[in-house]
Amino acid sequence: MKAIVYTEYGPPEVLQVQEVERPVPSKGEVLIRVHAAEATKADCELRSFKFPVKWFWLPLRLALGIRRPRRQILGAYFSGVIDSLGDGVTRLEDGQAVFGSTGLRVGAYGEYVVLPEKATLADKPRNLSFEEAAAVPLGALNALHFLRRAKVQPGEHVLVNGAGGSIGIFGVQIAKSMGAEVTAVDCAAKEAMIRDIGADHFIDYEQEDFTRLGRSYDVIFDMVVKSSYARCLRSLKPKGRYALANPRFINLLRAYPTSWFSDKDVIVALARETVEELRDIKDAIERGEIRVPLDRVVPLEEAVLAHQLVESEQRVGMVVISHGRDEEAGG
Ligand SMILES: NC(=O)c1ccc[n+]([C@@H]2O[C@H](COP(=O)([O-])OP(=O)(O)OC[C@H]3O[C@@H](n4cnc5c(N)ncnc54)[C@H](OP(=O)(O)O)[C@@H]3O)[C@@H](O)[C@H]2O)c1
Repeated sequence: MKAIVYTEYGPPEVLQVQEVERPVPSKGEVLIRVHAAEATKADCELRSFKFPVKWFWLPLRLALGIRRPRRQILGAYFSGVIDSLGDGVTRLEDGQAVFGSTGLRVGAYGEYVVLPEKATLADKPRNLSFEEAAAVPLGALNALHFLRRAKVQPGEHVLVNGAGGSIGIFGVQIAKSMGAEVTAVDCAAKEAMIRDIGADHFIDYEQEDFTRLGRSYDVIFDMVVKSSYARCLRSLKPKGRYALANPRFINLLRAYPTSWFSDKDVIVALARETVEELRDIKDAIERGEIRVPLDRVVPLEEAVLAHQLVESEQRVGMVVISHGRDEEAGG
């Protein structure tokens, strides 16, 4: 099968299309014919081994390969069709169209991927193409997890910082579907797209610092590593919640004492990415509550371009790498 392979850490140019062996499902596993995979910021970080948050560099390097990557095919969020079943699989069926997450296994930049039956997979939303569906799981699973943990109530005011990124795009829409008033913060180039998906207010972070405008929020959902922890807390109403998707080590240390000794709650977590959450997301998409703005879809051969666009943020919406099968499946 064809796959985008990287055999060394480095710039986007280390990604190469190669022929590799097709994986074979063992007992309790399924083989999935991948249609498309999102090119994510996390893929770029794993490829370059450069992270905005530094504290997990060493444990991750030990886990993923000290001199070169052990798993050489990236891609964690994808859509596809179940191609064949290993022994004992009962939850999934041959020919089923699915979307989901590979978790730490990665591999969706290959034409086929093997996953355990209990992986985070659900039926692809009927009203999305495979390419659109591939752009959903990362952002929507993370946004749903944090906003549910923040217990957003109808009528509350939620600020999404980094609203134009893969997670923020879903954060805005899920907060709206929970009945919140939403303020989105990102750069001006993304304003039209962010207003189009439902944000009530927009702040251009290059012009204004939302923490210095004298406004306060019930929930701040923050994807931006360099945010000021103290000023974000001061921008919360009494009993406000601060959800950090990308916490610096110092903020991990501050989070629990803040929650214990103040009326504010700080939420730091690795989103669990459950099948139940993914099914809820599918239902919300089919009800028309969540849309999927794509910047572009590129073929395997343009994976370098996909990573360049995501890494440099020269995009408005998600970037998806397609195995070119949407046409053969009729969208
Ligand atoms: N906790 C978890 O379970 C979890 C799971 C997945 C990912 N993550 C991490 O979360 C991070 C963010 O995720 P993502 O995929 O949504 O990132 P992303 O797609 O890179 O989005 C970040 C957005 O923030 C904007 N931005 C940059 N600086 C800003 C600032 N100062 N103020 C406001 N907005 C700003 C960026 O726009 P411009 O740069 O164009 O201005 C971009 O639109 C990644 O580093 C990823 O590793 C955490």
